[in-house]
Amino acid sequence: MKGLVLSGGEGTRLRPITHTSAKQLIPVANKPVLFYGLEAIREAGITEVGIIVGNTRKEIQQEAGDGSRWGLKITYIEQEAPLGLAHAVLTAEEFIGDESFVMYLGDNILKDGIKDLVDEFRSERPNSQIQLVSVPNPSQFGVAELLDGKVVRLEEKPKHPKSDLALTGVYMFDANIFEAARAIKPSWRNELEITDAIQWLIDHGYEVVPHQVTGWWKDTGKLEDMLEANRLILDTIEERVEGEVDEASTIQFRVIIEKGARIQDSVIRGPAIIGAKTILRNAYVGPFTSIDASCRIENVEIQHSIVCENTVISDHPSQRTFRIEDSLIGTNVEISRTDRKPKAHRLLLGDSSKVELP
Ligand code: TTP
Repeated sequence: MKGLVLSGGEGTRLRPITHTSAKQLIPVANKPVLFYGLEAIREAGITEVGIIVGNTRKEIQQEAGDGSRWGLKITYIEQEAPLGLAHAVLTAEEFIGDESFVMYLGDNILKDGIKDLVDEFRSERPNSQIQLVSVPNPSQFGVAELLDGKVVRLEEKPKHPKSDLALTGVYMFDANIFEAARAIKPSWRNELEITDAIQWLIDHGYEVVPHQVTGWWKDTGKLEDMLEANRLILDTIEERVEGEVDEASTIQFRVIIEKGARIQDSVIRGPAIIGAKTILRNAYVGPFTSIDASCRIENVEIQHSIVCENTVISDHPSQRTFRIEDSLIGTNVEISRTDRKPKAHRLLLGDSSKVELP
């Protein structure tokens, strides 16, 4: 059995971050989203993995490498354009051959991984098994209708959902999916939809069965969901302090402070993680905050946020009026206070940036 991780796509809903980097590499609790999927696949006993990549191929390849650090053998498969999940499957046909495989959307995180799903598929051998989760708002998802333990219909964002079972980003297939993906036509948004390919399997007598997950599942494709995934992962961390914390600082609840980080005259209220070589000075870091490596946070209060590598957020010691929350701040960003006149905001923002000032 092989693994296929989809890590192409446009990531339009996470612009401007995705103008310059892949959304699958955004750190959740200081670890790229993509790595959660790769680890889940390895844990399910699969070692041969294809990663579908688009125009962010180089950085994804640079981060995940040949996969040996997880005991995986990774092959990168280039998709000419993000023409849909079923198109990505077709792109991987040569890599998959006639084996069965798990398809995993590279921007998804599942609390309990995928071992149960893969084990069940291995023992029961249906043509496809789709992972479902019960949600309070099914109209916003792809929804499965079940009958006698089988999936009989899939509907994308239905107005009147037939169940509360949403499709997560993990699917099991045997090689019949290639025939299905070839048979379907692009949807109104000009993508080959995986739901249409699965519906084709059902309509042509193939066995498609559900697998319901009980733990949480997050698609991190939007800001709120990325922050929510960060919150859910931080909720599970265990305290570990390897950096330096001075006597004027207070650390409350579960906090990870990586090697080489320096915490001076600051308060950190966990769950939170502070990356290697990051410096906090006269700062407050509140719950559900991940600050990645080599950042400098000075005279600032921040909570429920993700800050990527090498970023500086610095207010005047006497002011500490920068209060940041619900934010995703990219790599190499600089936010600072200045005495220059006129006393105005000076911004250099990329396309599709968002700034809310109180
Ligand atoms: P989506 O989040 O559905 O699509 P997207 O990444 O283009 O984002 P947006 O809607 O904000 O523009 O994709 C789910 C995952 O599948 C994600 O990791 C990207 C990947 N993907 C591909 O690899 N190829 C594709 O053709 C598509 C549509 C997605």
